[in-house]
Amino acid sequence: MIKNDLFLRALKGETVDRPPVWMMRQAGRYLPEFMEIKKKYDFFTRCQTPELASEITVQPIRRYGMDAAILFCDILVIPQAMNIEVQMKPNFGPYLPNPVRSQKDVDNVIVPDVKQELSYVYEAIKATKEKLNNEIPLIGFAGSPWTILCYCVQGQGSKNFDKAKEFCFTNPIAAHQLLQKITDTTIAYLKEKVKAGVNAVQVFDSWGGMLSPVDYQEFSWQYIQQIIDALKDETPVIAFGKGCWFALSDMAKSGASALGVDWTCSARNARYLTGGNITLQGNFDPTRLFSPPSEIKKMVHQMINEFGKDKYIVNLGHGILPNIGLDNAKAFIDAVKEYEA
Ligand code: CP3
Repeated sequence: MIKNDLFLRALKGETVDRPPVWMMRQAGRYLPEFMEIKKKYDFFTRCQTPELASEITVQPIRRYGMDAAILFCDILVIPQAMNIEVQMKPNFGPYLPNPVRSQKDVDNVIVPDVKQELSYVYEAIKATKEKLNNEIPLIGFAGSPWTILCYCVQGQGSKNFDKAKEFCFTNPIAAHQLLQKITDTTIAYLKEKVKAGVNAVQVFDSWGGMLSPVDYQEFSWQYIQQIIDALKDETPVIAFGKGCWFALSDMAKSGASALGVDWTCSARNARYLTGGNITLQGNFDPTRLFSPPSEIKKMVHQMINEFGKDKYIVNLGHGILPNIGLDNAKAFIDAVKEYEA
């Protein structure tokens, strides 16, 4: 059905001539065509208008020809649908004016009817599928419950999410209730995305690495595991935890189709920790895209050799930065297409 199915084959662990490639945050501010749309429409208008979201999703594909597209949206549409106000402030990032800080606040958080509240996302998926015309697969995503809690409690981005952690450690009962509400909402949401046509889903645990290995199990991993359990028979699930290499061996037993790895973990260590049999995705240091294109290409080839071409999806170790040059991003994608084993 899908013409270029390299990404889906890598998720199944099949043998391929070269690994597939996409970039986290590939639809973003490093693209001039994205900035044109950003000038005219605020962030959530872009997310909530299927014509805009689908257009932004295919922009990087038209320019570079990645092997998978990821729907333009944000992880914070989930708390928004749960009755928590979320703003995206220019040059600041997410801002939640009424953060969740007490049992009473948790009680006011709802588990919404995601079919209704987030219908614009499924419409955007359908519009994107039409534009992609079965050329490549489309990835849907959600934040991990822990990463969503971080924003709900902290109220904004943070270097250490101290208020989020304080809430978990001083009020664990309320924290777990909140995490379960987010988990239930996320499962229903991802199932609707699959129905609307996404070919795989990725769970972003961007702030899992803020937790100690023991706290990670309690406050993050058990909820991601619930999401994997609920989705894995319907679609391949990719679990990406930034700074979570310590959990890779548990993740490998989870039923996920692939695991994301950041650049602080070597390919060799990631393969060792995961038992060598699961598909891995990553892990180019996003700031390494500042290197000259010729050096990027060399490093990408080296990275593929270290992970091995099979059971591997080439990606960055986290999202692409806004100030990366267009030729540098191109070198990253082209290096994979030019790869010969
Ligand atoms: O990958 C893609 O191309 C799809 C789009 C996508 C966005 N956000 C668009 C976006 C995805 C997958 C996300 C996920 C997301 N959002 C995460 C997890 C991944 C990660 O990067 O860790 C997180 C933590 C968020 C929350 C969020 N959204 C932050 C912290 C910010 C501000 C920081 C920033 O980069 O500006 C956003 C805003 C945001 N989400 C932008 C984009 C393109 C930039 C702002 C804009 O376009 O106006």
